[in-house]
Amino acid sequence: MDPGPSTGHTPGDTMTSRSRPRSGLPTDLGFTPQPMVEWLSPRELLNAWLRVALSSVFGAYADKRELQGMQPLGDALDYSHHEEFWIDYVADVADGFDATMTVATVLARPEWSLEGPDGISHPTRRGDVLIMGGDQVYPSADFRNYRNRLIGPYRSAMPAPSGPSPHLFAIPGNHDWYDGLTAFLRVFCQNEQIGGWQTRQRRSYFALQLPQRWWLWGIDIQFESYLDPSQLYYFRDVIGPQLEAGDSVILCSAKPSWIDSNTGEPDAYENIDLLARDIVAPRGAVIRLVIAGDKHHYARYSAVDGDAQRITSGGGGAYLAGTHQLPRSLEIPPKESTDIDRSPPATYKLAKAYPSQATSRRLRAGVLRLPWQNGSFWGLVGFFYLVIGWSVILGLRLTDEGFADMLRTMSWSQLLGGLLAPVGFVMAIGLITGLAFFTQTSNVVIRWVLGTGHALAHLVLVLVTIFFAARVMGDLDDNLLLIGVTLVLGSIGGLLGSWLVAVYLLIADLFRCNTNELFAAQHIEGYNNFVRFHISPDGSLTLHPVKIQKVVRWQFSPEGGAQDPWFAPVGSPPQPKLIEEPIRIEPLDR
Ligand SMILES: [Fe+2]
Repeated sequence: MDPGPSTGHTPGDTMTSRSRPRSGLPTDLGFTPQPMVEWLSPRELLNAWLRVALSSVFGAYADKRELQGMQPLGDALDYSHHEEFWIDYVADVADGFDATMTVATVLARPEWSLEGPDGISHPTRRGDVLIMGGDQVYPSADFRNYRNRLIGPYRSAMPAPSGPSPHLFAIPGNHDWYDGLTAFLRVFCQNEQIGGWQTRQRRSYFALQLPQRWWLWGIDIQFESYLDPSQLYYFRDVIGPQLEAGDSVILCSAKPSWIDSNTGEPDAYENIDLLARDIVAPRGAVIRLVIAGDKHHYARYSAVDGDAQRITSGGGGAYLAGTHQLPRSLEIPPKESTDIDRSPPATYKLAKAYPSQATSRRLRAGVLRLPWQNGSFWGLVGFFYLVIGWSVILGLRLTDEGFADMLRTMSWSQLLGGLLAPVGFVMAIGLITGLAFFTQTSNVVIRWVLGTGHALAHLVLVLVTIFFAARVMGDLDDNLLLIGVTLVLGSIGGLLGSWLVAVYLLIADLFRCNTNELFAAQHIEGYNNFVRFHISPDGSLTLHPVKIQKVVRWQFSPEGGAQDPWFAPVGSPPQPKLIEEPIRIEPLDR
């Protein structure tokens, strides 16, 4: 077994632990605390579009996983000599500072007694290893973002451990992949300290041999694609042969493909099925549990026959994602899969969701605060209203009267004629096409019906805004009228248009479209979660799904020892509890 790399630090590297900072200034802290990402800002919308475009090139032509083949292959990290073992699993961790710090502080504390729904407290210990399950950075991967959004908060939460450093392993999510994995490999694969945690892996995938015949494998699926040849070789020819009959495997993947495969992507489960069917099962071992982040909530599906679990836990700090659209039951792999070698399907039932599906439904209406919560989105919609509005005005059939008089006297049919004139018409077609592609669904009919309806509603709203603005300000002189209509289009038009987007998101959600955007627009910080595992000396595995409902605000604290967090809560400290009673998975018969 590989004892892992040596634990040397790189002198002067920004990730290593340092003495306590004297102030909360970035120059003392070594990082700049960040607000949550505003996903609907013009900049992020443009970046998201560019990222998706570029990632298809990265994925196809520059797969960094193949370059990792130059790294020593390594063996499983061996923890099997422990009698019992604790593992913390957290994913989607590095958005705004307050939420990231809240979760990191709970992860850092050596012990927590966690109260379950039945009121009984369960003693737990900090993980001997911490697994980060994907999206360790937002919005895009570069070292500065990792430092400000991940390394800084985690180092602030645990500058130094009491006792040996817990080890830290990570698999990349899509956000880690947006620079082709360059920064991820620097942060996680160079044997560094991140505060009190010690990184140990050499590649973007890993295997840990745990006590009592348990294993934990972390796989790298890149952008939901295949497992590359080096990775397959690692699991099939290096790690796989070490499995023995009766061994149990916990598998970490970057996406909950058991859900995706039942909601429009029938082949999504292929990678996990291949590992289970071709590598694990032939040795008499079993994948008992698969866990992923990516969706920012907690959802546990339990096999109807047997005790297999499929868990999503992406509540490490990123904006909350709704649970109300989660299917009540899954068929894994689904019969629609085109994988002709697929395993026989198994049925899973949704055993627990956090927040509950009722709470998730209730939270939807918060999207009506969209213009206030996303001021720059209001501005963006206003800009589009202005451009489309002036395309309509320029298309009005002019008499000798000029624009201003036309605006004062125009009828609805004349206004519609302005929209159908060449420039306005091209704008309208562009808007319909753009909003059809904004409609997130694999159903082409729903995409175009919802997209067209959404676009037509905006076009009507632009015409209504022009009509009434011109009527209300009709007494102004010509230039002031034109300026007034322009300002109203950009401001009131932008406000009404933002609300219209919010209403569209509520309607689209009824068709299972754009639910992600419905929640991303709200960037709800609370309802964080992670999972704490315990392997007992008797060989059983117990899951403790942990929730932290309220995010804490933090202020820099100059006082404290080397091991104390650098920030103190403003008001009450984080209050973690169990989402559900601990789930016990018995060892296999051997
Ligand atoms: Fe995420």
